[in-house]
Amino acid sequence: MGATANGSSAQPLSFLIYGRSGWIGGLLGKLCEAQSIQYAYGSGRLENRASLESDIASVRPTHVFNAAGVTGRPNVDWCESHKVETIRTNVAGTLTLADVCKQNNLVLINYATGCIFEYDEAHPLGSGIGFKEEDTPNFIGSFYSKTKAMVEDLLKNYDNVCTLRVRMPISSDLSNPRNFITKITRYEKVVNIPNSMTILDELLPISIEMAKRNLTGIWNFTNPGVVSHNEILEMYRDYIDPDFSWKNFTLEEQAKVIVAPRSNNELDATKLKQEFPELMPIKESLIHYVFSPNRKIPVA
Ligand SMILES: NC(=O)c1ccc[n+]([C@@H]2O[C@H](COP(=O)([O-])OP(=O)(O)OC[C@H]3O[C@@H](n4cnc5c(N)ncnc54)[C@H](OP(=O)(O)O)[C@@H]3O)[C@@H](O)[C@H]2O)c1
Repeated sequence: MGATANGSSAQPLSFLIYGRSGWIGGLLGKLCEAQSIQYAYGSGRLENRASLESDIASVRPTHVFNAAGVTGRPNVDWCESHKVETIRTNVAGTLTLADVCKQNNLVLINYATGCIFEYDEAHPLGSGIGFKEEDTPNFIGSFYSKTKAMVEDLLKNYDNVCTLRVRMPISSDLSNPRNFITKITRYEKVVNIPNSMTILDELLPISIEMAKRNLTGIWNFTNPGVVSHNEILEMYRDYIDPDFSWKNFTLEEQAKVIVAPRSNNELDATKLKQEFPELMPIKESLIHYVFSPNRKIPVA
């Protein structure tokens, strides 16, 4: 028998994961293998209720993980010109999966986004005052964020859903173009704003533990504190490439090269830190999980 079982049953853990071909979904499968957790990827499409019911009937999971969604390629600007496709997966699809899980008495761990807030008067940049789980989203500048905020609000009514507000995800795989570090090292110019971010190497295992504990509700799923673009690029220069240099530009200049505005914010990670006291502050986690293992420059 598995050490931890879902609620009332003593069934061994069995995870059903959506997002097989995606970044987060791919990493989740590897983590399950490393932890010898039984898992299967869902073959259904989120907006197709019958296909989800069929996955659940054949896999008989103890928990469902949703790492499926549209994020846009090359970036979220895609959602501005593909609104129906964005709604189909991120709104209709996510709600359908939550509802099917509810009917099957299953906890759904949902990788959502924290890009639904922006610094404001009550949470100014540099203040250390982050948005809390109960705060109402105040950023609807992009269609992607607007729909994610709507869905988060509706999902509050599902007591089986664990909403994880992921932000600017980073992993130790610096060759992955989705990695926030890889993205900003490849941009011609970058803004320089402190933000809350999610170190996947540290936090994805925590999300598995959250499933084992059957945690639900909204969670700011970021490392405590903030880090700026320049602070990350300085670490990149100091650990990976001594010749690396970059150019900054302002938010106004950035606005000219993107379609939709982007969110910048600090999320308050106190709730997650209380549940997982070992959670590292963002800059420590960056060094520990990303830059030290990838170090190219010998320690002086
Ligand atoms: N990456 C980020 O910057 C970021 C930041 C914050 C939050 N998140 C959230 O985290 C989640 C996962 O992100 P990710 O970066 O891993 O995404 P990703 O690499 O773009 O992968 C998305 C996955 O979703 C699947 N998918 C898309 N539409 C689907 C549908 N209708 N039914 C079933 N599967 C569908 C895709 O499969 P197909 O190729 O078969 O469509 C793919 O496997 C998303 O909801 C995203 O909003 C991401």
